[in-house]
Amino acid sequence: MIILGIETSCDETSAAVVEDGRRVLSNVIASQVDVHAPFGGVVPELAARKHIEAIEFIVDNALSEAGVELDAVDGFAVANGPGLAGALLVGLNYAKALAFTCDKPLLGVHHIEGHVCANYLGSDLKPPMLTLVVSGGHTSILGVDDYDVYRVLGSTRDDAAGEAFDKIARLLKLPYPGGPQIDRLAEKGNAAAAAFPRAKVDGLDFSFSGLKTAVMQFMAKNKDVAIADVAAAFQAAVVDVLVEKSMAACKQEGYTQVALAGGVASNKGLRRAMAAACEANGFTLSVPAPILCTDDAAMIASRGYFQLAAGRVDGLELNAYPGRMVV
Ligand code: KG4
Ligand code: ZN
Repeated sequence: MIILGIETSCDETSAAVVEDGRRVLSNVIASQVDVHAPFGGVVPELAARKHIEAIEFIVDNALSEAGVELDAVDGFAVANGPGLAGALLVGLNYAKALAFTCDKPLLGVHHIEGHVCANYLGSDLKPPMLTLVVSGGHTSILGVDDYDVYRVLGSTRDDAAGEAFDKIARLLKLPYPGGPQIDRLAEKGNAAAAAFPRAKVDGLDFSFSGLKTAVMQFMAKNKDVAIADVAAAFQAAVVDVLVEKSMAACKQEGYTQVALAGGVASNKGLRRAMAAACEANGFTLSVPAPILCTDDAAMIASRGYFQLAAGRVDGLELNAYPGRMVV
């Protein structure tokens, strides 16, 4: 089955063609990062306008790159939440128009469930698995018991992991988006240069706002500290907690497979530490290629395929849900 996926929830306009939920035939991504960088963050109205300008071109490119004609598409999957309202509506309405004119199923996809499905692309991974979703807007530990069965085991009580990276990067006067900048600097820094707190939150939840305050206070007191050392120490504090809670969740729930998802899953320190912890505990680890960790439509098409396979099809009345948090 061939699914065309569309992703416009934030600042990437993406369209992809995926076969049977796993084989990526094309995955075209237009990033708006240059548009938003001068503002230090995503400007919602600008994002929506840029999606409108790009969507037709990106979808046409995804089809031609895949060598697939529109009438060979078996279903149209689109991320319809969570995300920015105006941005989501562009992709949703485009997908609706395609589904209507081609008379094929429309599949509304939860963006976070899409991130999880990045692990199925080019892989034969099968649930059950524990998935750590770490992105700019979300940080959760999900129990994925089957392709259609998701349980939220823990989530952040304040900032998302990516948000924390971006805020600390701004404090260190690094360009937006800051996560990859911190990752790059941390490779050269000494994590022992500062001891930042590991937030103690009960159960499998996270909290990152206290860490942000600790870094600010440290910077105020240590004006000559090397930025790379702060980046390394901050990253180590985030990574430690993410890995520790993921391992605790596996043991509590009996999972032996771990998967990473979301933009922060590209982080080299997190990948290394999670791989070491999984090895020490006898768990297997799935890590998508960095391009499939960030927002892209191949992951949305994969999720759409599994929804179609389960008979979960949406009608043209489908709406966008910017705050759609429950998986
Ligand atoms: O999943 P994503 O592309 O978009 C959302 O759905 O939010 O995640 C973007 C987030 C940003 O906060 C970005 O700074 C962070 O992922 N990020 C990273 C790295 N690459 C992207 N954070 C840490 N290390 C990285 N290598
Ligand atoms: Zn995302």
